Amino acid sequence: MSVQVIAIDGPAGSGKSSVARALAAALGWSFLDTGAMYRAVTVEALHTGIDVHDVSAMGELARSVKLTTLPRVSVNGRDVEDEIRTETVNEAVSIVAANALVRHQMVRRQREFADEQPLGTVVEGRDITTVVFPNATLKVFLTASLVERSRRRGEEGEASVARRDVADSTRLASPLRQAPDALVLDTTGRKVDDAVEEIMQWLKNQTLS
Ligand code: CDP
Repeated sequence: MSVQVIAIDGPAGSGKSSVARALAAALGWSFLDTGAMYRAVTVEALHTGIDVHDVSAMGELARSVKLTTLPRVSVNGRDVEDEIRTETVNEAVSIVAANALVRHQMVRRQREFADEQPLGTVVEGRDITTVVFPNATLKVFLTASLVERSRRRGEEGEASVARRDVADSTRLASPLRQAPDALVLDTTGRKVDDAVEEIMQWLKNQTLS
């Protein structure tokens, strides 16, 4: 592929956002939080009264909505940075993310975003190594114990994190899976900088080989 991408997948609280953001900063690359995109579409549906179970209405919303994730998450020009992390959204986002029409639109947008970046992009989510960028420069799967992942999620709590893990891993449309050629990094008890350093080393080895 012509564009440089580091693809990072993993379950809730595995450290994807913090590690991917810090890695992008260290490399001078762009950063894309794809979970924020699914969350923003969910927020817009709740805001406009679209039923999140309505497959075609949600697909149309995902196609037509104006989405930005940086510097802040906004949808149709409205700042939703705080709203995307509420409990209501935690509950509804797995339904939206299981919709194949929504996924199709999100994947298209994610590939377009990476195409437009001058240097490269660090992209994190659930299907990035398996579906969105299967030919990424480097593929990483982050894990951590459920206890630590729930602690990092704070208010969301272990039950909700575990529920999203099951929903994300068992759905038909692009379930969370570890790509066979992804490098696995267990972030339990590890600092963000430490994880970033390890991935930078992997990238160096990859480029040399
Ligand atoms: O931060 P956390 O890992 O808790 O969640 P997130 O990355 O913000 O993603 C929120 C939800 O969006 C996940 O539970 C998935 O249902 C969905 N998602 C997805 O299906 N595919 C992606 N590439 C990213 C997120």
